[in-house]
This record gives sequence, C-alpha cells and structure tokens, in this order.
Amino acid sequence: MRIDGRPYRTLFVADDRWTVQVIDQTRLPFEFALRELQAAEQAADAIRDMVVRGAPLIGITAAYGVALGMRSDATDAGLLRVVELLGATRPTAVNLRWALAHMDSVLRDEPLDGRVARAYVEAARMADEDAAACESIGRHGLALLQRLSAVRGGKTVNVLTHCNAGWLACVDWGTALAPVYAAHDAGIPVHVYVDETRPRNQGAALTAFELGAHGIPYTVLVDNAGGHLMQRGQVDVCIVGSDRTTGSGDVANKIGTYLKALAAKDNGVPFYVALPSSTVDWTMHDGLREIPIEERSPREITHVRGRSDDGALREVEIAAPGSAAANPAFDVTPSRLVTGLITERGVCDASREGLQSLFPEHAQ
Ligand code: MRU
Repeated sequence: MRIDGRPYRTLFVADDRWTVQVIDQTRLPFEFALRELQAAEQAADAIRDMVVRGAPLIGITAAYGVALGMRSDATDAGLLRVVELLGATRPTAVNLRWALAHMDSVLRDEPLDGRVARAYVEAARMADEDAAACESIGRHGLALLQRLSAVRGGKTVNVLTHCNAGWLACVDWGTALAPVYAAHDAGIPVHVYVDETRPRNQGAALTAFELGAHGIPYTVLVDNAGGHLMQRGQVDVCIVGSDRTTGSGDVANKIGTYLKALAAKDNGVPFYVALPSSTVDWTMHDGLREIPIEERSPREITHVRGRSDDGALREVEIAAPGSAAANPAFDVTPSRLVTGLITERGVCDASREGLQSLFPEHAQ
C-alpha cells in the first residue's frame, strides 16, 4: 500500500538486513512513523503495547521476533525462551501461536550456526505468504461486491466494517478491507461505514487513515449506530476480520462485532468474515467456550487519547474518577450469524463442512 505515493508494507527488514522496521500504529493517524525492532524483547513489547496489531501482523512480527532472538542466543534454550516470551504477549489472535509453532519446528531441525539465517528466510516467506493470502481474499471478496453492485444497478455499495482489518493489520492489503480495495480499484463505487471501535478506536484512527489514503469514501460511526443504519437499509453488507476462527466457523473479533452480526441478521444484511487460513484454529470447535478473550487495562476505558485544537496529543479522563471498568477486547460471533467466510481459497459457509471443503487437508 502507498503512503504519500511510496509503497509500504507494515513490516520490513532495514537496509542493514537484520533490523526489523514496523509502522508505529500508536502514533497514527496523526503521525506516520517507523519504529526499529532490534531484539526479541522489543518485538514482544511492540505486540503487547499494540505498536503492531491485527491478527496476521501479530503473527509475522512474532516470527521476526524469533529471528531477532536467535541473533543473541540460537541454542535450544534460547529458542524456547523467545517462543515463550513472544507467546505470552496477546492471547486471542491465534496467528501468534501459529507463527511461533512454525518457527519453533523449523529451527529445531536446523544446526545452531544456520538458525539466524534460516529464521529470517522463514519469517520473510511467511510475510510474503500473508500478503499473497490477503490479495487472494481481495479477489474472492471482489466477486461478492461485484454481485452486490449489479443488484444495486451500479449504485454505490455501502460496506460496514468494525475495528481495523485493513493493510495495517496485516503485511499488506488487509482481510476485510482487501475486497473493498479490489472493488474500488476495479471501478466499483464503494463507501465504507467505519465503526469507531472503542476503546482504542482502531476504526476511527486506522481504518479511516487507510481508506482516506487510498481515496475510498468513508464515514466514521459511533459503535452503536450500525444497527440503526441497517434498519434503514443504508448498509448493503458487513465485512469484518477475525482474530481466531474455530474449525466450526465461530469467529472471535474485536469487541462489538457480535452486536453487529446480530443487527445484520435481524435486518437481512449479509455478514461476511474475511480471514487467511492462518487465523483458523483447527483444534477448537466451540468458540464461546474455548477461545481465550484478552482482558486489557481499565485505563483504555476510563481515558481517551486524541489531538487537541493546539495540535498536542493528549490523554484525558472521561469516566467518573475512581470508576471500575471492564475491558474485554474481543467477542465471539457464533457461526450461525455469519453468512460466509472469505478466505484465500474462496468463500465458504461458516461451518466445519464449509471450511473443510476449501481446506481438505484439515479434515479429520
Ligand atoms: O486488538 P487489535 O487491534 O489487534 O484487534 C484487531 C482486530 O480485531 C481485527 O479485526 C482482527 O485482528 C482481524 S485483522 C485482519
């Protein structure tokens, strides 16, 4: 994707061929800045503090975190330590565990003196694979948006999305936004309703930033407005991302996604979830019971950060002083509320049968 005409990925290796550069998402949308990661501990902090975020990008950052860790200690003990360090950063996005398990299994078979080089090669391969998967998701989702556009006689297709599942959440393209980019680039008029996504406002800050940079019309909504718009026929389709999808099609995504799926069901609005297969947890069958939900700091609820009229970035308190606050970061949308899953291999039902029709290698 391009920023000021320059192509960027969210993560890349610097000219020294070992430092990892990431876009610092805590400074967006007001400042575009890169951050250097030179140690596994810095990669872990970047994931925990949401300098990088979004399920696919968390996984790829962890893979590069392992590579950085191998530079200081490539022994089996060093590998175990770094996998545990990175694995403890965020619990819900399964891409983290998937990436670490892959790096661990590849590196264990590698002689010690070859581990650093191999780790960088593997991490780069996974990054390329993620970008290619997201591009494919875009192509499959484009066909859906083309059909909706035809049904609407060529009038603008209104998409509602929650959180940020765009290129900032991945290596490139995004998941939920990849079809939107593909449609816009193919000349289909699209407009996106962007849920602000309290408490961290990934919609208002990041999705809006991305769409604006690509020239796609969008409107930011408070999180509670989507149902109202759906009742009035103003939303043609919802597309969201996923942090973990069970083998039976239940979907964990940013808190509030479930309520949008309920409103969509009640109003006959198709509700699609876009995800690369690295986000499927084939070991899980019941999302509500099994998917671990991250609980974050109450301060994200009681305080809000933004830019004031003098241009300064400030954090202000918005809750009654001393309020208790609960901050579950994700919720689970049961498969029965999901119209379909848009994956890199095509669109399928949100069900075991649907997923296995596209990924028969995971059939039991
Ligand atoms: O807490 P975040 O910002 O990491 O949560 C991100 C989301 O919930 C995204 O929708 C999800 O990771 C899909 S990203 C392609």
